[in-house]
Formats: sequence, C-alpha cells, structure tokens
Amino acid sequence: MKQAKIIIDRHFTIGEIDRRIYGSFLEHMGRAVYGGVYQPGNPHTDENGFRTDTIELVKELNTPVVRYPGGNFVSGFNWEDSVGPKENRPRRAETAWKVVETNQFGLNEFMEWTKKAGTAPLMAVNLGTRGIEAAKSIVEYCNFEGGTYFSDLRKKHGYAKPHHIRMWCLGNEMDGWWQTGAKTAREYGRLANETAKAMKAVDPAIELVACGSSGPLMPTFGSWESTVLEHCYDSVEYISLHSYYNNKADNTREFLANNMGMDEFINSVIAICDSVRAKKQKKKRINLSFDEWNIWNSFPDTSYKEDEWSVAPHQLEDVYNFEDALLVGSLLITLMRHADRVKIACMAQLVNVIAPIMTSDKGAWRQTIFYPFLHASRYGNGTAMNTIVESPRYETRSFGPVPSLDSVVVWNEESGELTVFAVNKDLENDMEVTCDLRQFTGYSLQEHTLMTHDDLKAVNTENDPDRVVPAAGYGAKMTDGKLSVVLGKHSWNVIRFKK
Ligand code: AHR
Repeated sequence: MKQAKIIIDRHFTIGEIDRRIYGSFLEHMGRAVYGGVYQPGNPHTDENGFRTDTIELVKELNTPVVRYPGGNFVSGFNWEDSVGPKENRPRRAETAWKVVETNQFGLNEFMEWTKKAGTAPLMAVNLGTRGIEAAKSIVEYCNFEGGTYFSDLRKKHGYAKPHHIRMWCLGNEMDGWWQTGAKTAREYGRLANETAKAMKAVDPAIELVACGSSGPLMPTFGSWESTVLEHCYDSVEYISLHSYYNNKADNTREFLANNMGMDEFINSVIAICDSVRAKKQKKKRINLSFDEWNIWNSFPDTSYKEDEWSVAPHQLEDVYNFEDALLVGSLLITLMRHADRVKIACMAQLVNVIAPIMTSDKGAWRQTIFYPFLHASRYGNGTAMNTIVESPRYETRSFGPVPSLDSVVVWNEESGELTVFAVNKDLENDMEVTCDLRQFTGYSLQEHTLMTHDDLKAVNTENDPDRVVPAAGYGAKMTDGKLSVVLGKHSWNVIRFKK
C-alpha cells in the first residue's frame, strides 16, 4: 500500500483561521434569489416569502458571510430600485445576465434574510454604471443612525435601526471586458480610492475590498493589482481574488491538481500586496478576500439564451459530481493553509447558480460539494498548523509533480479539538497515512468521516439526493500517540480528535 506522512509541531503554526473564509455568494441571477431564497406562494416559505428549506440548509452550512447582490449584476444595479414599497419598485432590463429584474427582493429583504439564515452581509457597490455618490448614499441608508435623507428614508421603509453593514466590496471584476463599465487599472484604482474615502467618511468602521483581477489568467493580472493598490492602499483592507475551475477536458488527475493553481494565485497576490507595501513604506498589510471560487463546468453557459429577458430563468445550474467534491475539499484545504493572509473567501455561489444547494418548487437538496464545505466550516476553526505532507506524487501537465495527499491540520486549543482534513487524490490506490501527535497530550480519536464513491461522476439529484454522502470512516487508530489511518482511493477525509 502507498504510504504518506503528515508532520506537525504544536509550535509551528500558520495563523488563526478567520471564519469568514467559509463565506458564500448570492447574486441576482438565474434562480439564485427568485426561486432559491425568495419564492412567495411556494409551500416552503415563511411570512416574508423566504424559502425555509433553503434557510435550513444555509444554516447547516454555517456560512458566516454572504456576498451580495453580485457579481456582474452589481455593475448595472441601482440600489434605490430595491427598497421601499414593493409595488413601486421598477422592473429593469438587467444587462449582465439578460433577464428582467423585478426588484421584489432587495436590500432590506436581504438583511432580513441574513438574520434568519444566521449569516452576515458582504455588500458590493456599483462602480460600473455608478460611482461615489451612490456608494456614499447606500452606506448612509444602511449604517447612519438617522436625521439625514437616506437614513430617514430607511426608517420610512420600516427599519428604525441601522443595518450596520461592516464589509463592502468596491465593485466587481472591474478589469473584465464583460463588466458593465469596465475600467483600466488606473481608472479603477483612482475611483476605488475616492469611493472608499467617501464611504468611510460616512462610516469609519467599515472594511473595504478592492477588486483584484477576475482571475489569474487575465492578461493584466499582476500589473492590475499593483496599479490599483498604488492608488488605494491606504483606504482599503482587502484585495479580491476570483477563480473558477473545470474538468471539461475530462482528465480527473489533472483536474484534482487545480488547488496548486489556487495556491500559486494566492502566493502571487500576497507578493504583489507586499511589494506595494514595501515601496510605499507602510506598516499596514493588505489581506486577501478570495470572494469568488468554485468549480464551474458549464462556463460559458449559453443555454439560457432562449430565456433572454425572462424572470429567473435556469442559468448556470451546474450539477456537481463526486470528483468536484474532492477538488472542493482540496481548495478548502488550500484556503486554510493561507490563514495568515486569506481572511475572507466566498464559494460562488449559494443556491441554484453554480451552488451547493439546489431547489425545485417541491424542495431543496444538497449537491456533492455541500459536504466538504460543511465539514470545513464546522470543524476548520482554530489555528491552521504548518502541515508538512510527505506523500507520493503524480505527474501533471499544468503543475508538474503533485502530491497525491493533500492535507491541513487545524488545532483549536480552547475547545480542545484537533482536526485533520485530507484528500487522497490517488485514483487507484488506498494510502496509509501516519501522523505523530504525541505533543497533543490528552487528545483521543473521536471520529473519521469519509466521503468516497465508486463512480467519480456520481451526482445528487432531486430524485436521488443521497447518492454521494459522507459516511463513517474505518480503520483509524491511535497507538502511543501516533495516528495511523488508511485513506481510501479518491476520498475526502475528516479525522477528529478531542481532549
Ligand atoms: O459567479 C458568476 C459570475 O462569475 C459573477 O457574476 C462574476 O463576478 C464572475 O465572472
């Protein structure tokens, strides 16, 4: 059997994991909002028209932050359209996704929904068709106590207390040609800085995310980040990263190596942030908000073209299979391994649109990728340990030799929990993994959770929602403080210890 080793030392740590790395994303597109979280008249809704079955699954995922309202959508959005009496809200031609936006679910409904779903907003402002004025006024509407035009308007709309939205994105993918109001790095950097100043003048407590590149393959990647930060370094806290992965080539081994690309992307952005820091002689560090990541096999999905200008058509409804769940596990491990600099990350998206949760008129179900996310968000809390992995490697075209074992250990000293997350990417062989845990006195093995399936392409559907689910693992043992466990071929594993 193949052998691998995980090496940790209680004194060698990466950093505290910020729970916001288990964030998600809800965009006004497809059936994400309408039919996903909001569907008045459906039997599964509450008095607000919110889908309660979706809320239950979002709560289960335990996602601490949800980015909203877009995405490409936000670059043409008038936030004022989405507040006040519903009957007065305009229907708009929404040009990012070529649909009709009814504005029946808007800013205040989203805030109500976040409370019910046990999460918090990461709100994006429109820097495509709009700018400083609209960004300033939405902060005034949301966060100002009262006695001003927009805060009083909020009160008139039934919200006496401010929403106190802490985290904001300064636009979305402003480097992308597809973006309404796309900009050069210099144009965007200046606008981001001036918008940030105005927003923080209204509420100095807010934190801001500047747009980084739409992906590491953008021709301007690197110089975009550098120029943008030259302009707005002092006024923002984070820079964004977006990246989607796919297995269109149907090469699972190559596909499962994609977390190496995510790792390289993160390292490059850290290097750029720190080089601007050095040039500017600043103490402050810019942290990373990986606020769009996932697998997106249908990209670019044009199947919805026939539904142009309809309301809530089926858009980007990717059905995730078991191998997608394996890569999602590895991507989560990669985010945890960057706990020192990645402070926010959002799986894109949450419901129906490239999402872990799907709904129909009859109910909601969990896609395969739901589970690794759930495990990470539930157990990946505490300190990410500097986890050294000695593992057999396999050759890939894009990333050279890649370790078959991917792992990170998270230690929560306060709650007395130690968790090993591990993916065995070997498609043919089980792997015996050992880890010396003698430094962690008093910890005993609690459970081994395993997710695997004979068929890498197996999916969960409305009629067969539990085809790919986690199960109890087998054969993990502790002998004299040393863990030994057999990780089945192509498997996602969570091994938990408790004091
Ligand atoms: O998540 C789908 C889209 O992908 C988002 O709207 C956009 O930001 C990205 O290109």
